[in-house]
Amino acid sequence: VRDLFEGMAATYGIVNLVSSFGFCRRWRRQCVTLAAPAAGMVVYDLMSGMGECWPTIARAVGARGRIVGLDFSPAMCVRARRTAARVRGPAIELLERDVLGNAIPSRAADCIVCSFGLKTLSPAQRDRLAAEIARVLKPGGTFSLLEISVPRARLLRAAYMFYVKRCIPVIGRLLLGNPDHYRLLGVYTEAFGDASGMVEPLRARGLEVEFRRLFFGCATAVRGRRA
Ligand SMILES: C[S@@+](CC[C@H](N)C(=O)[O-])C[C@H]1O[C@@H](n2cnc3c(N)ncnc32)[C@H](O)[C@@H]1O
Repeated sequence: VRDLFEGMAATYGIVNLVSSFGFCRRWRRQCVTLAAPAAGMVVYDLMSGMGECWPTIARAVGARGRIVGLDFSPAMCVRARRTAARVRGPAIELLERDVLGNAIPSRAADCIVCSFGLKTLSPAQRDRLAAEIARVLKPGGTFSLLEISVPRARLLRAAYMFYVKRCIPVIGRLLLGNPDHYRLLGVYTEAFGDASGMVEPLRARGLEVEFRRLFFGCATAVRGRRA
């Protein structure tokens, strides 16, 4: 997975934006909004990629807040550091490491967000991620995890998955990416299904959880809080 994102880093931003008709930006904003970060908060952005969520988080937490991004792809982190240099307001720190072996202190986060990071994790890894979220959140802390998903409605599902699996690799190639990488993302998306599979692992760790479908289920999110 790390090699996959290393290979995609140069084209990921533009392919994502074009192939989603801009929806990726809207969904990221929704992901952040669902976690409800506020002024002065410490927000952890897990599997932060190039820091795509940071402008939205920065507006919410302001200059007294702090953003900590985490990603294990060095190529993504290079780009994230450029994003950090551009974003005004909060201090931004980047941890270049695996989210499942992260060394983040317990009860460090007021808020945790994760956009488009779930699909490449196996069910066992998602379970470990749920445990990490419960450990890292402060009491009263909130979280939001969003991922592109397989819609339930049969016709929409067929059309959307055709687009994801067949058309996006072509767009990837047109934009100078490796079509095999984008094909693989379609395979991961289909196997992932939707974010409902995160509900029970998170509840099992004592977190309050709510499941949301966005745009007819083309993306789904789980949000919630630690009591
Ligand atoms: C699809 S990108 C999403 C990036 C960004 N959050 C966004 O909104 O576009 C997934 C990111 O998760 C990172 N990632 C995947 N598995 C990871 C893991 N186990 N630990 C840390 N980062 C991981 C990848 O390197 C990649 O940058």
